[in-house]
Amino acid sequence: MPSFSVVTFGCQMNVHDSERIEEVLQRAGYGRTEEVKGADVVVLNTCSVREKAEQKLRSEVGRLGVLKRSRPELLIAVAGCVAQQEGERLTKSMPQIDVVIGPDNIPQLPELLASAQHGSPAQVRTVFDHDRPTFLAASPEPGQGNVSTFVTTMKGCDERCTFCVVPYTRGSERYRPSSEILAEIERLVAAGTKEITLLGQTVDSYRDPERALPAAPLAGEGVSRWGRRNANPDDETEFPALLRAIADRVPQLLRLRYTSPHPRHLTPALVEAHKDLKVLPRHVHMPVQSGSDEVLKRMGRRYTRAEYVERVSMLVQSVPGLTLSTDIIVGFPGETEEQFQQTLGLLEQIGFVGVFGFKYSQRPFTPALKLADDVSEADKSDRLTRLLDAAETIRGRHLATLVGTTQAVLVEGRSKTGAFTGRTERNEITHFGCSDDPTGELVPLVVRRALKHSLIGDMADERRRRDYDAVVEPRPAPRSLPVVAG
Ligand code: SAH
Ligand code: F3S
Repeated sequence: MPSFSVVTFGCQMNVHDSERIEEVLQRAGYGRTEEVKGADVVVLNTCSVREKAEQKLRSEVGRLGVLKRSRPELLIAVAGCVAQQEGERLTKSMPQIDVVIGPDNIPQLPELLASAQHGSPAQVRTVFDHDRPTFLAASPEPGQGNVSTFVTTMKGCDERCTFCVVPYTRGSERYRPSSEILAEIERLVAAGTKEITLLGQTVDSYRDPERALPAAPLAGEGVSRWGRRNANPDDETEFPALLRAIADRVPQLLRLRYTSPHPRHLTPALVEAHKDLKVLPRHVHMPVQSGSDEVLKRMGRRYTRAEYVERVSMLVQSVPGLTLSTDIIVGFPGETEEQFQQTLGLLEQIGFVGVFGFKYSQRPFTPALKLADDVSEADKSDRLTRLLDAAETIRGRHLATLVGTTQAVLVEGRSKTGAFTGRTERNEITHFGCSDDPTGELVPLVVRRALKHSLIGDMADERRRRDYDAVVEPRPAPRSLPVVAG
């Protein structure tokens, strides 16, 4: 049996695509191996959302090229966003590549590999499936489902934020029929999955191509409150209706998360769904990108700071204790120190418990290329450090308030240290000891200690409790620096 290995760069969408690539290859008779060195086929699933993606690919292909010299039958396939973006150009600049395949063409990978095997020139397929979008479903064996897994509900993006390459590498928005989404979630939960994260570039803009979902309570209110600019052209999002349908159809599901939403689809109907549905955890990741109206405008985000604050406040007020995390770009063209300060101010105002911060980098095809990339690298680095420091302070404050409280933790498995690891409702990573294996259970834990990014807890059930400090295997002592006697 020929073997394959997939190397993944980038976001959750890519991790999800890599799993589908593995399934497609396994169905075609390939066997999976972790060992890139021994594999007959290596698939590099690339990302181009931030800089250095292509350099990374180039060095990876270079390394594989050396292997290929001693094993000419080795096939190198490049998938993902760089593949979609560069297409045939890649095979010109890196002749070691045998197959280039876009995110919408994964099902055709086995045939392209077969053609490449027969000595034909590099095979390139990067066609968007706009006419008949397909969504590859996970197909776990019973009992083999991961505790927590992703389900794609839409792909592509129509937003065209001026900095972002995604609309060009993933195409325009296409939604998956609700019946398919519901069936996949049912299957996953039957196979043992407890937590689903719905996945899409603007996951909350969902509209059901089948028109099968009953309208959610308060549907349409967003349009009347913020006007059509902030809603879909002829209707409001049906995302709240989808959430309700999932909760209704699959009551055994313990948690239903989603990522990444766009703030302009945070409607009263979505807030209402959060109020009603216990399966929705009290945590939402809501990218804001900047706290300055001028910068938001240049980014093409289609909301003001006040509107973002109004929308998320509506959510926080309706769901007490709900926490928010966000994405922020520093050093966008023209960002002044004062505008960056406004972002820091927003961090405090909202109290984000998690911040993914990025230095702006120019991406191919994007409208922001027309703006001068005029914030110096030193200023970008400095702003990123200050941003992450501020975020860490807020996070530390938040985690400290949890010490002594009891939190329901969904156990994902044993970590390398020997302790178990899971997440609280609000997505805080928690480590603890247990006398048996509680993987897949929702267990109450008493938080004992707050670390920088995670919590240490004790099982509330004393019979199963094991002291975390006693179960973790002692780490090797850090190597001390040589001391030079003076
Ligand atoms: N909606 C998508 C966003 C994809 S990009 C999602 O599902 O996550 C993820 C984050 O990368 C963005 O929110 C933004 O903060 C950051 N990003 C995107 N393009 C960037 C660029 N050109 N420079 C720096 N950061 C960028
Ligand atoms: Fe990118 Fe903006 Fe869409 S960040 S993925 S263009 S919502």
